[in-house]
Amino acid sequence: MVLSMERWVGKVAIVTGASSGIGAAIAQRLVENGVIVVGLARRSEAIEKLARTLSDKKGKLYAVKADLSKEEDIKNAFKWTSENVGPVHILVNNAGIRNRTSLIDGDSEKWRATLNVNVIALCIATREAIRIMRKNDIDGHIIHINSVAGHKVPNIPNLDVYSASKYAVTSLTETLRQEINALKLKIKITSISPGVVDTPIFDEAYRQKETIKETLANRSLRAEDIADGTHYVLSTPPHVQVHELMIKPINELD
Ligand SMILES: NC(=O)c1ccc[n+]([C@@H]2O[C@H](COP(=O)([O-])OP(=O)(O)OC[C@H]3O[C@@H](n4cnc5c(N)ncnc54)[C@H](OP(=O)(O)O)[C@@H]3O)[C@@H](O)[C@H]2O)c1
Repeated sequence: MVLSMERWVGKVAIVTGASSGIGAAIAQRLVENGVIVVGLARRSEAIEKLARTLSDKKGKLYAVKADLSKEEDIKNAFKWTSENVGPVHILVNNAGIRNRTSLIDGDSEKWRATLNVNVIALCIATREAIRIMRKNDIDGHIIHINSVAGHKVPNIPNLDVYSASKYAVTSLTETLRQEINALKLKIKITSISPGVVDTPIFDEAYRQKETIKETLANRSLRAEDIADGTHYVLSTPPHVQVHELMIKPINELD
């Protein structure tokens, strides 16, 4: 199999949650490979800051402010991209939150917020991307940033609906694949499922807990490792589809 990013040079990618962690690393890697990236997040100023550091690279990074819990923001971001940059070829559904409440006495607003961003926003963005790809006859690629927690429920406290939201992503990957097949489209769908990645999703207070401190120090991935995974699945030839890519740090306990 010949791996190459050449077919994506000068093409448009949308990366959700490009202001931090894994999304920022993926956006950076795509720009380095000549892709025109539109990064979506509420903190668009963080994406603009990243864009300035990439000004000498082959591709380009644009920042669009969007709260993905609002359908209008997602639609507007896709419209802005089509009108100002071009039709989307790659969508990386990366944005995600982990709110750390419980099921027994948890805060239902936090459950809603997690499901809204991790599941509903991913579905809306996917729908918008596929509409544009079909209209423009684009053999695009949709990548869902899932989690190992979307395949096995880890025994860690305050997981609340997070793992359920990622199980939904596993299921949505397969359902989308079936819909794409039924329509005989050449659009690829890939789920990438990381283990623990040292990113700001672990806030400072959480980092002080002994168990997570030890895990982050000795058994964690870096955001760039997931960007490597994204690079790999995008580099495959048109007839190859990586359906699921699970990436774990060596010695992960779960
Ligand atoms: N870190 C890990 O151990 C790990 C493991 C497996 C899977 N993952 C998954 O990887 C993805 C990225 O996580 P990360 O670790 O890189 O976390 P992170 O550093 O906290 O980044 C999360 C990103 O999501 C965006 N986001 C959250 N809510 C949003 C909203 N309402 N509207 C727009 N953007 C929103 C954030 O942007 P703004 O705050 O600027 O809006 C930020 O860019 C998530 O789907 C996560 O579940 C992470």
